[in-house]
Amino acid sequence: MAELPIVRTIAGLREQVRAWRAGGLSVGFVPTMGALHEGHLALIRQARGLADRTVCSIFVNPTQFAPTEDLDRYPRQEARDAELLATEGCDLLFAPTPAEMYPPGFATRIQVAGPTDGLESDSRPHFFGGVALVVAKLLNQVQADVAVFGEKDYQQLLTVRRMARDLDIPTQIVGGSTVRDAHGLALSSRNAYLNDAELSVARRLNVILKQAGLAALSGAPVGQAEAQAAEALLAAGFDRVDYVALRRAEDLGIFPGDRLGAPARILAAAWLGGTRLIDNMAVE
Ligand code: PAF
Repeated sequence: MAELPIVRTIAGLREQVRAWRAGGLSVGFVPTMGALHEGHLALIRQARGLADRTVCSIFVNPTQFAPTEDLDRYPRQEARDAELLATEGCDLLFAPTPAEMYPPGFATRIQVAGPTDGLESDSRPHFFGGVALVVAKLLNQVQADVAVFGEKDYQQLLTVRRMARDLDIPTQIVGGSTVRDAHGLALSSRNAYLNDAELSVARRLNVILKQAGLAALSGAPVGQAEAQAAEALLAAGFDRVDYVALRRAEDLGIFPGDRLGAPARILAAAWLGGTRLIDNMAVE
């Protein structure tokens, strides 16, 4: 297996992408914050199916973390990640330093309205500004034909899509299905924070969301299905629920009249000790 080339500068990245383009090759891109798991690797495989060459970025982006959040303890394991990427046939790892991404004097902010309203923004008001900023930069840097983002972060996916459209970024934004463990728990780098007892509680999240979706599909008022799911999460052992929400899948809009319309998505965020988990799924 060939060793994966790693570039840490925007100039080095552009040089490689330019060379591929000169050879008539298309480019796919998967942005990550590292600590790669099967969910990320599925996105790499998807990107490989969509383009001739695949770039993965690993950058733990400080602008999407609030000062109280887990930036410092976010898992970092670049050597292992690089091996996994090489095994998957990824062609290039872009792993810039914070100084390369945000040099002294950096002053630009990006604010996306619409899909960022509510849900994650209610608990993490800084989050989508940081994500939009770093993703706009990464998309400009890589200049890929297609970029794949996980549906696990569904509100993020819609936000990135909106931003790319609004800023005329010519990269096609594609969603990748959430990968789950045998118990249905959505894979996430933050699952590494959970002890065994927390892990078994975490595995209730997808089950409770599925039940709430089915209740709404059978005619329960949306607000009632959401409230019952939040109660069920607390009863299962979650310490706090930020939200459970049944929304329009297309734009996360609220259903009028408290009745489900199609297509719908159920989304939730809940805390287990110091770990915040999110999940979402189609309601069908
Ligand atoms: O989903 C993530 O891992 C991050 O939010 C992203 C898209 C790589 C931006 O930092």
